[in-house]
Amino acid sequence: MVNPSLADVTRRLGGIAYGGDYNPEQWPREVWHEDMRLMREAGVNLVTVGVFSWSRIQPRPGAYDWRLLDEVLDLLHEHGIAVDLATPTAAPPPWFTRQHPDARPVTVSGSRLAHGSRQVFCPSSPAYAQAADDLVTALATRYGSHPALAMWHVHNEWGNHNALCYCDTSAAAFRTWLQERYKTLEALNEAWGTDFWSQRYGDWEEIDPPRDTTAFRNPGQELDYRRFSSDALLARHAEESAILRRLAPQVPLTTNVMGTLEKKIDGYAFAATCDVVSVDHYLPAADPDAHIDLALNADLARGMAAGRPWLLMEHSTSAVNWQGVNVAKRPGETRRNSLTHLARGADGLMFFQWRQSRAGAEKWHSAMLPHAGTDGRVWKEVKALGSELAALREVTGTRVRGDVAILFDWHGWWALELAARPSDTLSYLDAVRDWYEALWRLNITCDLVPPGADLSGYRAVLAPSLYLLSDGDAENLTRYVDQGGHLAVGCFSGVVDEYDRVHLGGYPGALRDVLGLVVDEYLPLRSGEAARLEDGSYARHWAERVEPRGCTPELRFADTPDGGPARGGPAVTRHTYGRGTAWYAACRLPMNTLGKLLRTLCAEAGATPVVDAPPGLEAVRRSGEPHDYLFLINHTEEAIRLPVTGVALAGAHVTDGQAAVPPGGVVVIREELASTPADPRPGTRHSPQGAST
Ligand code: GLA
Repeated sequence: MVNPSLADVTRRLGGIAYGGDYNPEQWPREVWHEDMRLMREAGVNLVTVGVFSWSRIQPRPGAYDWRLLDEVLDLLHEHGIAVDLATPTAAPPPWFTRQHPDARPVTVSGSRLAHGSRQVFCPSSPAYAQAADDLVTALATRYGSHPALAMWHVHNEWGNHNALCYCDTSAAAFRTWLQERYKTLEALNEAWGTDFWSQRYGDWEEIDPPRDTTAFRNPGQELDYRRFSSDALLARHAEESAILRRLAPQVPLTTNVMGTLEKKIDGYAFAATCDVVSVDHYLPAADPDAHIDLALNADLARGMAAGRPWLLMEHSTSAVNWQGVNVAKRPGETRRNSLTHLARGADGLMFFQWRQSRAGAEKWHSAMLPHAGTDGRVWKEVKALGSELAALREVTGTRVRGDVAILFDWHGWWALELAARPSDTLSYLDAVRDWYEALWRLNITCDLVPPGADLSGYRAVLAPSLYLLSDGDAENLTRYVDQGGHLAVGCFSGVVDEYDRVHLGGYPGALRDVLGLVVDEYLPLRSGEAARLEDGSYARHWAERVEPRGCTPELRFADTPDGGPARGGPAVTRHTYGRGTAWYAACRLPMNTLGKLLRTLCAEAGATPVVDAPPGLEAVRRSGEPHDYLFLINHTEEAIRLPVTGVALAGAHVTDGQAAVPPGGVVVIREELASTPADPRPGTRHSPQGAST
């Protein structure tokens, strides 16, 4: 049997999915009828139901009450709105906690958390597992063949609040996980380097989670605890999924992962188990360039989906309520955000939530239907977006192809940010964001993929601060270059193995051959200190003393007193290895300098911008048969005119072969494929063997 997919959902919907979380239990029945009418008015075709309904569905142990879901699912079906039915396991009800007080999670310092929020459960609790599995079984038995059901939504944001639990049940589960991983205590002692500080274990029972202690915890233990915690939730996810697949195998299944918003779970591992990859994204309000974070996360979603279309399960119509100062979106911003996700491969755009809550912890979170109802900007924009997406339905199923891969790895993120390292100013996400932003400013499309991914289809591969690199993944990168690929590696990469043990023999042990250099010393800079580069720019936070072993320095730290601790030494190097090229940046390069490096590398690798556009115009292409679709997103205050070949489906008219993209606007062009036969389309994958060298 072919696995169900997002294509099954969009086929059924007749185009792009549009809707949000629908929580009718918060409202009296009369309101549900108004909801149906307004959903239709807004063009909503899919809603997530039941995500926090456990206490309604099962008001007491063993007693199910299906009245609400029965009625709501029938009502939605009558109105032609499909249902993404959630397993409500992210919010165990008060009776559960009262019955199983030991199932509450425990913090690193040993406090057991109280009831009163959501995800109040220990991921390894057998009582929780039993209660959740019973509930999921009952839900799937009742609704597995309901005509409204289009998709299963497993749990909600696994691990958002409770991923790291330090209770005794978790400790026992951790030991079992370690026994499976290491088989012998000898292997564990070796991996964790337990001879340091006399930590050698003689019995599995001596091992605890890395709880609060006197000084630094063992980093190998911490890293494995992260892995174990992610795996514990993944096991729960797998169990719920198995029940749903057994009882309703025809229904596609998803869970909403959080991309870079969630450090604690390995998003790739969860996405790999789903028929539909879906993600949530919220703009970091303090970031004036939050649209770049959005684009990065959309490209990561596509990476998690191995290039296939994916679903934006949640974003916001305006402000959120959890960021301190929760900035409202400006007019047109929701459209711009939504169409950017669409441009980067989403086949569905959903919001948290349909109707803004009157009470409860999220009443100040925006929604599709605000407190004021249908008066006001937000509703107007929601309605307009619904009709625009209907007009863009032909985009569904087309693909975005990244020419470049940026390696992104949760394990690397965990490891780089462990305690007791050379500098805590080196943040993994900052490094990834820098490299992504430089590429974004060049309008070169990239996928974010794990370091073990098949890289052979990418013209260039970038590895920002990939501190943790296993031998196997290092081999993957080396082979890629050897066979003709173009690799650029950021500072403090390839330093430790998967156990956080240093690759010996000169840094960066895992990559020094392919890079043709040895780093003699890592030289973090003091806060406020900067190292001048030959091009007149300044690097902050970090420098390295590099000794070339075959590489050519392309840029140096200035050989002047302000050149910093590596003055005169290489800051950017380049090395020919096999049939390919490997670059290294021995500091956190300032944006302009990084941009120049990536422009040179991409030009040599044949990775070209989607269009030649002025700064502030974001361009992405979705490719398909018989058309390509060019998305032009204007982040500036001025209209931008651009030559295009095709017709505008949204946002403008094409006149005299030119599209005018309004300030803050988005234009979607249906391109004629016949117009580009001689010129391979940017984004078309090829093997690096064929790349010009
Ligand atoms: C997450 C959750 C939602 C809601 C939103 C608010 O994404 O999944 O239930 O809490 O955050 O931004």
